[in-house]
Amino acid sequence: MSGLLDINFLEINFKNPIIMASGTFGFGREYAEIYDIEKLGGIVSKGLTLNPRRGNQGIRVWETSSGMMNSVGLENPGIQAFIENELPFMQSLNLAHIINISGTNLEDYVKACHKISRKKVDMIELNISCPNVQENNIPFGIKETTTREVVKEVRKVVKVPLMVKLSPDADDIIRIARICEEEGADAISLINTFKAFAININEKKKIFENTFAGLSGPCIKPIALRMVHEVAKQVKIPIMGIGGIVNYQDVLEFLMAGAQAVQIGTANFINPKVGEIIIKDLENYLISNDISNISEIIGIVD
Ligand SMILES: Cc1cc2nc3c(=O)[nH]c(=O)nc-3n(C[C@H](O)[C@H](O)[C@H](O)COP(=O)(O)O)c2cc1C
Repeated sequence: MSGLLDINFLEINFKNPIIMASGTFGFGREYAEIYDIEKLGGIVSKGLTLNPRRGNQGIRVWETSSGMMNSVGLENPGIQAFIENELPFMQSLNLAHIINISGTNLEDYVKACHKISRKKVDMIELNISCPNVQENNIPFGIKETTTREVVKEVRKVVKVPLMVKLSPDADDIIRIARICEEEGADAISLINTFKAFAININEKKKIFENTFAGLSGPCIKPIALRMVHEVAKQVKIPIMGIGGIVNYQDVLEFLMAGAQAVQIGTANFINPKVGEIIIKDLENYLISNDISNISEIIGIVD
C-alpha cells in the first residue's frame, strides 16, 4: 500500500474506502460532470435487473426528519442495455466498479448474474432486499431459506468477487450474514433501506402508491453502525458499511466498528460533492493523528 487511504478489499485495490452506493450515483456519468469522480475509491451501479424496469408510479422520494424515503421500484435499462451502453463508461474510469444486481425471482437473479459475470467487472453486489414474487413479495433477504437459496444459486454462476447486500429488515441479520458466508459470498455490504411508511395528513392518504418505501439517510446511521458492529464480529469475510454516512466522522465510526470500506448514498443528494470532501477530511484526520494507513483503525473498537 502506498497512500494514507489505500485499501485492499478482496484483492482489489481501492484508492480509498469511499464508495458511492447503489441507486444514488447512477452509473457515475452525471456526477462526473460535477467533479473528478476518479478521486473516489469506487462506484456501485444503480440496481440492475435481467429485463428493463420502468419503476414505480406516483411519488418516488419523500423527505423525512434527518432522512428520506424512496420507492423508485428499481427503474433500470436491464442488464443487456447496461452492458452495451453504460458498462464501457464505468470500466473506463480509474476506480473500482461494482455492479449491483436485483431480481424478483430466483431465475432472473441467476440469469442476470451469469450475464454480467462474464464481463470484465470488478465485483458484483447482490441486492437481496428485493420482493420475491414467488413468496408473497417477501424480500429474499428477510428469511433464511430464501437468502440461502439465492446466494447458493448465484454463487454457482458468478466467477468474479461476490458481495451480498443485507436488508436491515431481516429476521436475524447476524444469522443471514452467516448464511451468506456459508454459501460462498466473498464479502457482505450492509445495510439497505428500512421498510417505512408516510401519510399525507391533508389528503388523509398514504404518500406512496406501494404503501411502504425505503428509509435512508442520517436517521438510520446509529442502527446501521450497530448492525455492522454485530455482523463484523460474527463473520470472517470483509464488510462494507452503509447507512446514513454524511461526513468523515461517520466513516471513521464505521471503520472502527469493523467495516473495511463504506458506501455513501443519501448524502450525495444533500451535497453531490460529498465524496470529495470526505476523502480530503479523512486525509487530514490521519495526518493529524499520525496514522500511516487507514486500515490501522479497522475494527479497533470492541
Ligand atoms: C433513491 C435511492 C435508490 C436506491 N436504489 C438502490 C438500488 O437500486 N439497489 C440497492 O441495492 N440499494 C439501493 N438504495 C439503497 C442505498 O444503496 C443504501 O443502501 C441506503 O440508502 C442506505 O445508505 P444511505 O443512508 O447512505 O443512503 C437506494 C437508495 C436510495 C436513497
